[in-house]
Amino acid sequence: MLTQEELKQNVAKAAIDYVLPLLGPDVVLGIGTGSTANLFIDGLADHKHRFKGAVSSSERSAARLSALGIAVFDLNQIERMPLYIDGADEIDGGLNMIKGGGGALTREKIVASVADRFVCIVDESKLVPYLGAFPLPIEVIPMALAAVARRLARFGGNAVLRKDFVTDNGCRILDVSGLSIKSPAELEAEINNIPGVVTCGLFAIAGADVALLSTQDGVQQLHSPRSQSRNN
Ligand code: 5RP
Repeated sequence: MLTQEELKQNVAKAAIDYVLPLLGPDVVLGIGTGSTANLFIDGLADHKHRFKGAVSSSERSAARLSALGIAVFDLNQIERMPLYIDGADEIDGGLNMIKGGGGALTREKIVASVADRFVCIVDESKLVPYLGAFPLPIEVIPMALAAVARRLARFGGNAVLRKDFVTDNGCRILDVSGLSIKSPAELEAEINNIPGVVTCGLFAIAGADVALLSTQDGVQQLHSPRSQSRNN
């Protein structure tokens, strides 16, 4: 029986195999945040001379990439990325996700939006029939925290302020449990419309295009039913 850590290592290796054919001297990759993304970054370092560099979704990942000698670019310098690769806290069969357990959801959504393809790398514990057991992270402008929490209560959400955590954007995170996430893209749009919300941790309006799912029987590839390259 493989441990969760071993499953994460296996999916990180599979992700390296997935990206290798896409690398070239002008290629910049979008890279996410979290323990699975960290394993991917570590493996990518062995191939750092085969691509130009990366745009990162957090200061933490940027520091890790730089320490391993991978060039880190500001997103404003980059027009096109073949893919964005990152973990998730939950993913369903339609490749809708909850992200933001590491608090980097806003930059994750921004970098992913510029990439041609979102490749989600997860172990099998993250695959769920319906999103919502994992409390939904929502990044909020500090002055709006109480107002946003009250609005979320109307959806049945119980918002808890993430203690001692400030995002890379100087904002705070509400972790929201109790939501019924039957239509993830609709709920994402509704939460996005609450004044003071910077980013909702639902990635459903634009979910993953491909998921590499690490199981006891190997790494499986899942494809989104809606997926065509998003920026073509
Ligand atoms: C960070 C994220 C991560 O992708 C998510 O929390 C999964 O992390 P891990 O790979 O450590 O399980 O969204 O904001």
